Amino acid sequence: MKTEINKIKISALEEISKVKSVADLEGLKIKYLGRKSELISILRELKDLSKDKKKEIGEMANKLREEIEESIKCQVASIKQRELEDIDIKEKIDVSYLGTKIRKGHLHPLTQVRYEIEEIFKAMGFLTVEGREVEDEFHNFDALNILRNHPARDMWDTFWIKNSKSKIPNLLLQTHTSPMQIRFMKENKPPFRVIVPGRVFRYEASDATHESNFYQVEGLMVDKSGKITVASFKSAMTEFMKSLFKKEVKIRLRPSYFPFVEPGFEIDVSCPYCKGRRCRICKKTGWIEILGAGMVNQKVFTAVGFEENKYEGFAFGFGLDRIAMIKYGVDDVRLFYGGDLRFLEQF
Ligand code: FA5
Repeated sequence: MKTEINKIKISALEEISKVKSVADLEGLKIKYLGRKSELISILRELKDLSKDKKKEIGEMANKLREEIEESIKCQVASIKQRELEDIDIKEKIDVSYLGTKIRKGHLHPLTQVRYEIEEIFKAMGFLTVEGREVEDEFHNFDALNILRNHPARDMWDTFWIKNSKSKIPNLLLQTHTSPMQIRFMKENKPPFRVIVPGRVFRYEASDATHESNFYQVEGLMVDKSGKITVASFKSAMTEFMKSLFKKEVKIRLRPSYFPFVEPGFEIDVSCPYCKGRRCRICKKTGWIEILGAGMVNQKVFTAVGFEENKYEGFAFGFGLDRIAMIKYGVDDVRLFYGGDLRFLEQF
């Protein structure tokens, strides 16, 4: 029995010292100290031995049991310590390590120009209001004196929305920001001055200065008859251009036709690309058209319920994209919509 106990001791202590996990140690505990283990069988057989042998073998076996328990305890402690050291190494945070740089975006150049324009007009006492992208035929055309079958409708051909179920007739994507003139005047009495930035749509082919989806800023200033003249409009525009371009720019006013103004005119800015020498961008004219404008037609006032000839005012609508092109020296409007980061990151 002594030899057996010694054999158990050598093999148990050796196995325990080699084990790498707590789970494996549990297995060894069962193997060497479990009910079916050799050592426990020896202890069970003690009762059949003589008194002296019982004492001697019993002491030896119990001592070994304690030794095995102690050795398992030590091994558990050392495995746990090693695990902690491993975590320390694996999860070590190097606070001096340079992290991955997070790329920050910025506002789209058209939004930047829009905000700048709003600030300039705010300083001139204009309120900013917003219209809607999906309009109805009445506000986009009829109330602005662009009657059905009038050839002026061709200039503002747009995308129509099938609307068989709704009671509102003929919805469309607004072709200009002018419908908001009507909506605003239906709710507000003069005097007022507002601007309306908005996204507009046209059914037309794109080129360097034309897109089928672009942005406009509408302006409307109305007061009692005799208070607002074409001169008021021209001075507001000159002031605006000076603040936006931060220098004197050459502008020209030329007569034009819009059914909702009388008289009507357009403003061109001298082409900054060829300095007036005529190029592809200005279509060899030396000028880039940026806005349509005029004195509000009395028919528009009566369409919103104002008494005829009681009020007078000017309205204008310019292309935000064209302004941005001139301001930043961009020679193709389509670049604003291409989503190319090499272009956008320059602003
Ligand atoms: C209008 O849209 C009128 N509503 C402007 C107006 C308002 C006149 C109030 C009178 C009173 P027009 O279609 O010309 O007008 O467009 C106005 C401006 O939008 C143009 O001068 C130009 O700067 C810009 N624009 C027009 N079409 C395009 C296009 N396809 N792509 C980019 N910009 C455009």
